[in-house]
Amino acid sequence: MRNPIIVALDVPSADQAIALAEQVAPAVGAFKIGKELFTAAGPDVVRKIRATGASVFLDLKFHDIPNTVAKAVASAVRLDVQMLTIHTSGGPAMMRAAEESAQKAALQAGRAAPLVLGVTVLTSMDGNELSAIGYEGNVGRQVERLAQLAMESGLRGLVCSPLEIAALRQIIPSHAQLVTPGIRTGAEQADDQKRTLTPREAMDAGASWLVIGRPIYAAPNPREAAEKILASLT
Ligand code: C5P
Repeated sequence: MRNPIIVALDVPSADQAIALAEQVAPAVGAFKIGKELFTAAGPDVVRKIRATGASVFLDLKFHDIPNTVAKAVASAVRLDVQMLTIHTSGGPAMMRAAEESAQKAALQAGRAAPLVLGVTVLTSMDGNELSAIGYEGNVGRQVERLAQLAMESGLRGLVCSPLEIAALRQIIPSHAQLVTPGIRTGAEQADDQKRTLTPREAMDAGASWLVIGRPIYAAPNPREAAEKILASLT
């Protein structure tokens, strides 16, 4: 089994990120670099994490005109990331441009194309917020609509909340990959996550990858926490 644990490097500096990555790398499948770390430490932190041999998920959630997103994706490919995110609400042309750019830039660089993951509805949004911006006010229906659009636009994966996995698995092709945050083992606090599943439950529901932050990096022994989670999956 491939190790499905992606540790969110939600720390403010490159030094902290690298120390954490080196500590837990043997027990995890990849590291997620998001807006906080990337904005503070820049592309160099991606290179440094890649230099440890670990895979990188660049979670910058691109959302712009198709040409700009295509160029940003090409830059991410040149950084040699294995996964990246875009907002599906950027529309079909933007999604197609992102996927095509990932394929083309990877061919030019002589490496496998990264997995371009579509973000549907942010879990921070509820029906009222969706209505306020003129969207379908039913969160579940909006998630399914954007997920379907993402698949029609050529994306090969989605980010979703744990409680969306089962419904999405009904409507997306079986080869599509689902990446899910909102994972809690039960041993720690839920923090600000409201709808969580355990690692095992999420995998059983059909997740391909688990994004796990605080249950690993805020644990007294992050390496041990990651190993325990991995053991719970086998
Ligand atoms: O610490 P925790 O396990 O909650 O971290 C989850 C990670 O997944 C964080 O980087 C967070 O930004 C991200 N995420 C999330 N919920 C979403 C999308 C992304 O928790 N809906």
